[in-house]
Amino acid sequence: MSGGQAVVIGGTKGLGREIAGRFLARGQKVTLVSRSRPNHLVDGTQPVHVAADLESLTDARDIVSEVVEANGPVQYLIFSQRYRGGGDPWAGELQVGLNATRLLVEAFTNRFISEGDRAIGIVSSVYADFVGGSQPVGYHLVKAGLNQLARYYAWELGRQGIRVNAVMPLSYVKNESRPFYAAQTELTDLYKRFVPLGRMGDSVDAANLLDFLCSEKAGFINGQCIFVDGGVSVVWQEEVAKSLTGL
Ligand SMILES: NC(=O)c1ccc[n+]([C@@H]2O[C@H](COP(=O)([O-])OP(=O)(O)OC[C@H]3O[C@@H](n4cnc5c(N)ncnc54)[C@H](OP(=O)(O)O)[C@@H]3O)[C@@H](O)[C@H]2O)c1
Repeated sequence: MSGGQAVVIGGTKGLGREIAGRFLARGQKVTLVSRSRPNHLVDGTQPVHVAADLESLTDARDIVSEVVEANGPVQYLIFSQRYRGGGDPWAGELQVGLNATRLLVEAFTNRFISEGDRAIGIVSSVYADFVGGSQPVGYHLVKAGLNQLARYYAWELGRQGIRVNAVMPLSYVKNESRPFYAAQTELTDLYKRFVPLGRMGDSVDAANLLDFLCSEKAGFINGQCIFVDGGVSVVWQEEVAKSLTGL
């Protein structure tokens, strides 16, 4: 395919790895940005890995130069990183999730191809709109902030033809957690009962949406934050409580 490379921030694991695989399958050059280089990568082949710790990022220009030097100008840019450090979760989530995303978006802005389809995809979460105890408050704030960041840049970068959208998945099974969920039948049965589509999400589901959003088929979709939750977000909680208790 013609055009530039796809860059996946946090592309070495989970959903990021899944979407990176989609770009590679299209024949696109791909750069993965994360702290540690996966062992299976081979020098001189795709994808390329650029090492960076976003927790200490204050200026993204060097990373962006390294990415562009390695694989050329950018067509698609995905943010799928999340704070996985052991420090203060408030500071860590804000820095890795939100500050680093802004710094990278701004540093990449002039490194996109000059014509053809171009897009940024941001991985948000259902916790952008809803609250729950399985994630810290900083995570909620970051995801809500990422949705608004997607809308802001949709307006600002839309003028240069760069579309910006966010995806909001419910908890999903990813390759790394597949054995865990396979053993948790009580938990997966619960999901079957309260998710309208009757199953847990999978990283494949969110990758499918990102794949679409980063394609010409989504050429007039800009500034949208889209749930990938099997319909959970449309159901009133009273209904869920009644159905789970059998009342
Ligand atoms: N898992 C879910 O159920 C779920 C549900 C809804 C939304 N999400 C969102 O989906 C996205 C992906 O989550 P995931 O669970 O699929 O992936 P993940 O396994 O948490 O992978 C995170 C990625 O970010 C990189 N990363 C972490 N800390 C970093 C740092 N300080 N600097 C640079 N890179 C860093 C990791 O690589 P290194 O470790 O090598 O740095 C890895 O590539 C996240 O935004 C998450 O909030 C996840």
